[in-house]
Amino acid sequence: MGFLQWLENTDFSQFIASSTWASLVLLCLHAIGMGVVVGILWVLDLRVLGFARSLPFAAFKPLMRLAWLGFIVNAASGILLFSGAATRFIINTDFQLKMLLMALAGLSVLLLQRSLAVAARSPETSDVLVVPPAAKVVAAFSFLFWFGVILFGRQIAYTLARPAA
Ligand code: HEM
Repeated sequence: MGFLQWLENTDFSQFIASSTWASLVLLCLHAIGMGVVVGILWVLDLRVLGFARSLPFAAFKPLMRLAWLGFIVNAASGILLFSGAATRFIINTDFQLKMLLMALAGLSVLLLQRSLAVAARSPETSDVLVVPPAAKVVAAFSFLFWFGVILFGRQIAYTLARPAA
């Protein structure tokens, strides 16, 4: 907790916590990053689950780079938002659940990419990639995990403890 107290009391974190427009800009960046990363990954999950079959999996290669950019924007804006009230966020159940679901969501993306890469190399796959059933299960969980990240992320603002007077 010592480090989080130090982080929260730095001049920069105090500026973020007290400045309305700094929080506004960071929350806007957080929303944009979320739209990019979750938007692309939900389309990938739905494609794996059989929607938009005409969309080739090769199209996701450049899109995944964009998704990583969206995640980096969210990590940067999220850490800055976090720094302004670190000791209150770290004990907030919604924040903890969001971080847990984000770790599971990240793991599911790695598993999905690996499963699709293996399927793409298999001799059965001629020009149309045959999606293994396990990849569909991972895609369904990935979809739900990202939904949970957004749900609990949004809930934080309602459950975050007030600053000590
Ligand atoms: C792709 C990953 C992420 C997604 C989809 C996401 C999503 C969200 C959403 C939907 C909110 C609610 C925003 C609002 O109240 O308008 C939020 C808030 C927040 N997120 Fe994230 N987030 C992500 C990554 C991160 C990371 C890596 C951190 C780092 C610690 C983080 C820290 C926060 C904090 C501190 C808040 C609360 C802001 C506040 O209410 O003042 N987020 N997030």
